Amino acid sequence: MASIQLRTPIPGPRSKELMQRRNAAVAQGAFHVTPIFIERAEGAVIEDVDGNRMIDFAGGIGCLNTGHRPASVIEAIRKQLDRFLHTSFNVLPYESYVRLSERLNAISPGPGPKKTMLVSTGAEAVENAVKIARAYTKRPAIIAFEDAFHGRTYMALALTSKTHPYKAGFEPFPSDVYRIPYAYCYRCSYSKTYPSCDVFCARHLEDTFKRVVAAESVAAVIVEPILGEGGFVIPPAGFYPALTEICRKHGILVIADEIQTGFARAGAMFASTRLGLEPDLVTMAKSLTGGLPLAAVTGRSAVMDAPGIGGLGGTFAGSPVACEAALAVLDLIEKGNLCNRADHLGEMFQKRARDWQAKWDLIGEVRGMGAMQALELVRSKQTREPAPEETQKISQRCYENGLITITAGSYSNIIRLLMPIVISDDQMKEAMDVMEAAIATVAEKKEPVAQMA
Ligand SMILES: Cc1ncc(COP(=O)(O)O)c(C=O)c1O
Repeated sequence: MASIQLRTPIPGPRSKELMQRRNAAVAQGAFHVTPIFIERAEGAVIEDVDGNRMIDFAGGIGCLNTGHRPASVIEAIRKQLDRFLHTSFNVLPYESYVRLSERLNAISPGPGPKKTMLVSTGAEAVENAVKIARAYTKRPAIIAFEDAFHGRTYMALALTSKTHPYKAGFEPFPSDVYRIPYAYCYRCSYSKTYPSCDVFCARHLEDTFKRVVAAESVAAVIVEPILGEGGFVIPPAGFYPALTEICRKHGILVIADEIQTGFARAGAMFASTRLGLEPDLVTMAKSLTGGLPLAAVTGRSAVMDAPGIGGLGGTFAGSPVACEAALAVLDLIEKGNLCNRADHLGEMFQKRARDWQAKWDLIGEVRGMGAMQALELVRSKQTREPAPEETQKISQRCYENGLITITAGSYSNIIRLLMPIVISDDQMKEAMDVMEAAIATVAEKKEPVAQMA
């Protein structure tokens, strides 16, 4: 039986009614990309308040690699609910925080021995990674990349690249943040071509130290192993070894922001491992718990212990309920072979998407690693002019026909796949049928036809 079952046009009457109340009561800045209110969810399928069932390719923005409500995670949460909800680790510590730290120390990329600290959100992990790097190096500057996304709190926002809607109007930002181009080969900032460029973008860091900020002032370079919000851009082989070699030479720490790429998304527990990136610090969040707010910074013990006693923490940092969920999630990823499953899903998508690329000028690039896959949409393959309106239309056609997708990219012209990795092959095929029809409608400028059960 098909997973997608639409009983009403999307959005349905109940969603529309709730949207009116939402518009009156909730600040407009707290955005959402669909007008659909959810009732319940399981695996890769959500049901809205009008009884419509849809496939979820957004996964709560990459938080649901293990799917909606996996039984073992729900069970772990239930058990913890019967013990205690909150003490604050800064007052009364508990074992699950320690056990999770031990586990993250063992599996995270980069040289050991390691230590961990827990917080609640990705942005908070980024903030703390910067604090730790500055405390250890006693240097002020942080280098971030163009097209990077590191969160919405002030330091994280200063490190984030995209201006609208994230940064514009919220200035001024914290100082000592410097930005360099990412290894975005499809839109190379230096108009070079890989491999003849010899990863010029990584080597150019030495130039940055001469013309922008002195190497001895730089505490850390922070990098997403694969760009998330920036559009699932994967640096070519050789980029990270060159980058990290230069950083080490100058005593600069490397922070890998694995918040979107981690926990099997890219076909490995962490994308860094696949890309030859050996960071000193790693930030993690999103799919760590399968849906509860929890984030971590893990790194070399000497670096992690630089802040003094009491220098790190937070009232809710490392919630015991979220810690138990995370431990169950890590078990599930390992026992369920989700890294292999992510590769399988990636291959399924690539096979299909390569045909779309051959057929339609609109599909400029198909790229991805594991289950972290994307389409970059352009007005013409020759000019590579971004196609944001077309991207938006495709995303809308998708949800109107039962598939929730989200977009990405500094030019808002990328459709990215963040589906639960537990999605079945049949559901994946069903979802890709919807996506193909949506792309065809826009690429061939046809009128949309909404499906109804
Ligand atoms: C790579 C990356 N870093 C940081 C963040 C911020 O995480 P949060 O929204 O949990 O604060 C995100 C969120 O999308 C992200 O993708």
